[in-house]
Amino acid sequence: MSAAIKNVTVIGSGLMGAGIAQVAAQTGHIVTMVDIDEMAVNKAEKRIGDSIKRVAKKKFGDDGDGAAEFISGSISRLGTSTDAVAAVGSADLVVEAIVENLNVKKKLFAELDKAAPSHTIFASNTSSLSITAIADATTRKDRFGGLHFFNPVPVMKLLEVVRIPETSQETYESMCDWGKAMGKVTVECKDTPGFIVNRLLIPYTLEAIRLLERGDASARDIDTAMKLGAGYPMGPIELSDYVGLDTSKFIIDGWHKSFPDVELFKPSPMLEKLVVKIAETTEETLATMNDWGKAMGKKVVLCKDSPGFITNRLFVPYLLSSIRLLERGIATKEDIDKACKYGLGHVMGPIELSDFVGLDTLVNVSEAWMKDYPGVQEFELPPLLKKAVDEGKFGRKSGEGFYKYSE
Ligand SMILES: NC(=O)c1ccc[n+]([C@@H]2O[C@H](COP(=O)([O-])OP(=O)(O)OC[C@H]3O[C@@H](n4cnc5c(N)ncnc54)[C@H](O)[C@@H]3O)[C@@H](O)[C@H]2O)c1
Repeated sequence: MSAAIKNVTVIGSGLMGAGIAQVAAQTGHIVTMVDIDEMAVNKAEKRIGDSIKRVAKKKFGDDGDGAAEFISGSISRLGTSTDAVAAVGSADLVVEAIVENLNVKKKLFAELDKAAPSHTIFASNTSSLSITAIADATTRKDRFGGLHFFNPVPVMKLLEVVRIPETSQETYESMCDWGKAMGKVTVECKDTPGFIVNRLLIPYTLEAIRLLERGDASARDIDTAMKLGAGYPMGPIELSDYVGLDTSKFIIDGWHKSFPDVELFKPSPMLEKLVVKIAETTEETLATMNDWGKAMGKKVVLCKDSPGFITNRLFVPYLLSSIRLLERGIATKEDIDKACKYGLGHVMGPIELSDFVGLDTLVNVSEAWMKDYPGVQEFELPPLLKKAVDEGKFGRKSGEGFYKYSE
């Protein structure tokens, strides 16, 4: 039985910290939000106040009294501080959301470790750093984990709960219960670079930038292809802009440094320059293609003759990567699917999508690409996929793939 978390200290009042503090206060927790100076916390408080009013309007509609109570209750539960050490004195949970720098995070946790009560659980909201490396700065690894929220926190439903080998079952359950009390869908994940969503998302968006870099297709056509061909709500190039090219570069550079042999983590020269130059074909060709496309009732995209063209070039490695996550025991199939549905807004998770596409089809594509492009790691066939097909599990069409289907 996990102990209920009531008092929460959030360190960092930026984009993520303010969002986490807001949702915690809205859901009945006593929250202390900490930043380095008064200006930062005041700015965050103002942002939170405006955001709570928007939430109340949506939640309560014409019920003015209900909305007023929700707003005043939430705000009364939210305190601020510029003294992190003092602010953890009665915390059940500390969620850190400060700058993405390992040494700065370790220094903070080492100080907090001495000040916080022994029962206090520590969690980092890091997107790209190792939870184990951060937890190393403390003497409470059994009460340490990752709580990876998504931006904007009040809107995004997903919470990745990350365990390191030392995280106790009780700590893990407390973090999950708290996540649920925050109104989030929680998924469990081991401490692997990018956890579930970013581990799949960043290499995918990077490959989209490489397609552009190689001149294989234009930015617009890459986005159109993934939206219309894969049913994604946003194309990978616009998604990269949304995430921030500097953020993607920071993450990929860090992973490349730690795992230099992993091709998926290779930095892109185009991203290095932070220049996205669209390689367009001539206006005349485009016009002709568009006319033809319209006549066919289709949206036309242009692409050079490269493996998988646009959609499958991005799609197949993403599906294979998700199967490798499963194979390595990083997360369950249900959690990988939930992570991509709730974290990325996809209609289907990659494991169920693999079943839908057909596991035999994926094997065929992977084997053909491995033959034509030997040594490309992201095309390699995951043994788990091969095993499923050898056992006659082809996915939805055969009644069983990674999941079982009744019809
Ligand atoms: N931005 C995202 O989309 C996103 C999503 C998930 C996770 N994250 C992670 O969340 C963390 C915070 O990201 P963000 O986008 O909110 O950053 P941000 O720059 O908006 O906010 C960071 C805040 O931390 C404060 N800070 C820095 N050092 C501090 C210290 N020692 N004590 C107290 N406050 C300190 C800064 O003044 C700033 O207000 C990072 O680890 C990031 O990787 C970010």
